[in-house]
Amino acid sequence: MTVAQSWTPQSWQEKTARQMPDYPDKAALDRVLGQLRTHPPLVFAGEARNLMAALGQAAEGKAFLLQGGDCAESFAEFHPDNIRDTFRVLLQMAVVLTFAAGVPVVKVGRIAGQFAKPRSDDFETQNGVKLPSYRGDNINGGEFTPESRIPDPQRLLQANAQSAATLNLLRAFAQGGYADLHNVHRWMLGFIADSPAGEQYKGLAQRISETLEFMDAIGITSTSVPQLRGTDFYTSHEALLLPYEQAMTRVDSTSGDWYDTSAHMLWIGDRTRQLDGAHVEFMRGIKNPIGLKCGPSLEPDDLLRLIAALNPQNIPGRLTLIARFGADKIADKLPTLVRAVKREGASVVWSSDPMHGNTIKLQSGYKTRPVERVLEEVRSFFAIHRAEGTHAGGVHFEMTGQNVTECLGGAQGLKEIDLADRYQTACDPRLNASQALELAFLIAEGIRDERMKQTGLAASA
Ligand code: TRP
Ligand code: MN
Repeated sequence: MTVAQSWTPQSWQEKTARQMPDYPDKAALDRVLGQLRTHPPLVFAGEARNLMAALGQAAEGKAFLLQGGDCAESFAEFHPDNIRDTFRVLLQMAVVLTFAAGVPVVKVGRIAGQFAKPRSDDFETQNGVKLPSYRGDNINGGEFTPESRIPDPQRLLQANAQSAATLNLLRAFAQGGYADLHNVHRWMLGFIADSPAGEQYKGLAQRISETLEFMDAIGITSTSVPQLRGTDFYTSHEALLLPYEQAMTRVDSTSGDWYDTSAHMLWIGDRTRQLDGAHVEFMRGIKNPIGLKCGPSLEPDDLLRLIAALNPQNIPGRLTLIARFGADKIADKLPTLVRAVKREGASVVWSSDPMHGNTIKLQSGYKTRPVERVLEEVRSFFAIHRAEGTHAGGVHFEMTGQNVTECLGGAQGLKEIDLADRYQTACDPRLNASQALELAFLIAEGIRDERMKQTGLAASA
């Protein structure tokens, strides 16, 4: 047996760390990191353990992971209305899945810390001028000027403060009454009320209301049953910027284990998942539930080695594999990975990211994603798991509660010329509220089919 090398929150520094900004003023960076180490944790280790247990259920097909939010948070868009609107669309999606598919939904936002972005190029050239690439608001500025592109450690403090304020509001919404199931009609955003998905949602909300009325009549109320009144909502982001993640990593006094307290769940990106790299080294030592993005270049043997490094004790819920292949590649790539994991007896949550493999660039210059491709990848994801006898455990997507026009198609039929109307993303194109709801109804169908098959019932009309 090989003895795992000892791990410390800084042992990643001995390895190659990709996608790291080059801070010109190291002393300033150290001062900021020192300050962050004294900041309160954003999450409590016990919450991360609760999420791990919930994800353990998803690994066994007894719950479903709903993970979504913005591609990247930004300082400019920091506003309570934006947080509320993202949260309410996630609630709508969750309630669709819970009611239509009949499974508990584990709700995880890509929010309250999702700032740093991996880039394919270290530099960006415009009109012959070459500058360092924008890496996210916690690192440098998006504006194309030399000053703005210099990595500034002060941004870490601002991102940390924004994350804390965002999480505070989310906790208030989740437990303070906003998420009460009796509000199911009120989560509807005005601008999607008349869309096809909006109509479908209203029908479902009506049935829930009737059910709740009946329950109220027999004495099952929000006061008597706290499950009706609130929901558990968790946060997550890509653990890309390791100096920040290290500074937020603390020993949990109740267990003696290390937790990255910047979020409940962290994931490793497709570009930073090298077995001998710094990101895998850091992530193997923290006890949070973690995700691993799996793209087309990941081979089964590499995946098994990564699983051995990241979840050596095979704890259910510890590891979520987030498949992001693209509608055209998933059928070719996913089945061999699923079989390898199954053969190995590794417990994982299989989740589908149907966004990142379906990004296209139009002649007009817009980066977009055809909703049809997004839905197609999700359909394939469910079909593959049905065929392999494994569980489709979750989805991971980029959306916003704002009425944007960034992804093509959907029942609203957004066309190329419509993109210019409200194309607002600082990064990747996101599903708008109506497209996200459409996705939720499709997922609900997929889960229902799997359950029908499991219980041996014939699918009814
Ligand atoms: N507490 C339950 C849950 O989280 C039911 C619930 C309350 C709920 N509010 C919700 C479900 C909002 C979805 C959305 O599943
Ligand atoms: Mn993205």
